[in-house]
Amino acid sequence: MQLQDILFSQGFGTRRVCAGLIQQGLVAVAGDTIDDPAMEFIAEDLQYTVQGIPWEYQASAYLMLHKPAGYECSQKPSTYPSIYTLLPAPIRQRGGGAAAGVQAVGRLDQDTTGLLLLSDDGKFIHRMSSPKHHVPKVYEVTAKHPVDDKQVSKLLAGVVLDDDPKPVRAAACEKTGEHQLSLTLTEGKYHQVKRMIAAVGNRVEDVGGLHRARIGSLELPADLKPGQWRWLTVQDLARISA
Ligand code: URA
Repeated sequence: MQLQDILFSQGFGTRRVCAGLIQQGLVAVAGDTIDDPAMEFIAEDLQYTVQGIPWEYQASAYLMLHKPAGYECSQKPSTYPSIYTLLPAPIRQRGGGAAAGVQAVGRLDQDTTGLLLLSDDGKFIHRMSSPKHHVPKVYEVTAKHPVDDKQVSKLLAGVVLDDDPKPVRAAACEKTGEHQLSLTLTEGKYHQVKRMIAAVGNRVEDVGGLHRARIGSLELPADLKPGQWRWLTVQDLARISA
């Protein structure tokens, strides 16, 4: 594949822009600056730098973000900055065109922190977001009022939310502190954790009250700080559905 086409596929701009980057000597492969946009490379696993920043070719993009508080998961946020501003431009622009870039797999509220997946693989996003898929998601909750055993039992037995007569239940729920609990859900209704906690007579703390720690058996790595992202590995992808 020509180097200019590789850069184009990875979101570095139009083919003309990509050819320009190469001709200006801003792209290197294995430490060698390449100035011919048409030079051929095997795209798979290609390691290269653009303006000194290292990249690896990704046929499809799968990444995790440690979502910080104060960011909206929308491309067009209403009040707070978008999580997409936390990603480098090439990742936001992959594929070109109107439906460019990676999309969040589901959404977290503005004030929720933790593990968020993003991808440009439509099938993956659909599969992961489908209620049929039942991928367990683990949330760490800090509640305003002390958590008691009755609340835990109700969350496990099922609570009715205002928009649906069918009760929703936690797949797992454990009190982890005076005001803390760990809640596992296999579906993702709007504000589900907050509404379930409210339904048992408690309330999620406004600041730092909700954090997603795990999706499937993929945990948010301790060294991924709020606002940081990284590519998912093959092992990570396997863990999501494990
Ligand atoms: N449930 C909520 O209430 N908010 C989130 O961000 C995620 C799950």
